[in-house]
Amino acid sequence: MNANIVDVLAKMINYEQGCPHRVNHFLKVHSFARIISEAEGLNSSEQYILEVAAAMHDCGIRASLLKHGHYNGKMQEEEGPAVADKMMLELGIDEAIRDRVRFLIGHHHTYTNIDGIDYRILVEADFLVNIYEDGLSADAIESVKEKYFITKKGREILISLYQTPNESGK
Ligand SMILES: [Fe+2]
Repeated sequence: MNANIVDVLAKMINYEQGCPHRVNHFLKVHSFARIISEAEGLNSSEQYILEVAAAMHDCGIRASLLKHGHYNGKMQEEEGPAVADKMMLELGIDEAIRDRVRFLIGHHHTYTNIDGIDYRILVEADFLVNIYEDGLSADAIESVKEKYFITKKGREILISLYQTPNESGK
């Protein structure tokens, strides 16, 4: 029996205490991942893996900061899986699920050899949030779209958010 995804999100909110920025980030990534995954028709196991990975994908940031005083994408990939595994064990999540989530967290900044729809959607959902949080230019957004966005729903959301004028024409 695996934990309810709400309990996974609540555990991550607790883990990221004092850092509303990172809580906001993973909640947004989780929501986009869920929306894209419903459109792509993932099976229940793939869906659960993706949602847990989306909730926990950046848990290596805090671990890197505590260990090294700073962090980068590589450190996050290195530190994240063990932290996530501890939380997943505490939540009673099965080994097969934990194994894939650890892999996804350990590779979520690596864009070569994306080997499954869960991985693909995690990358797209993280970009949908990072484009906004990092203030990417229009050119950079177009480049990210063409390089990394494969799913129909992921592309639709990117265009809707970042490549469609709003009510004031901007
Ligand atoms: Fe992220």
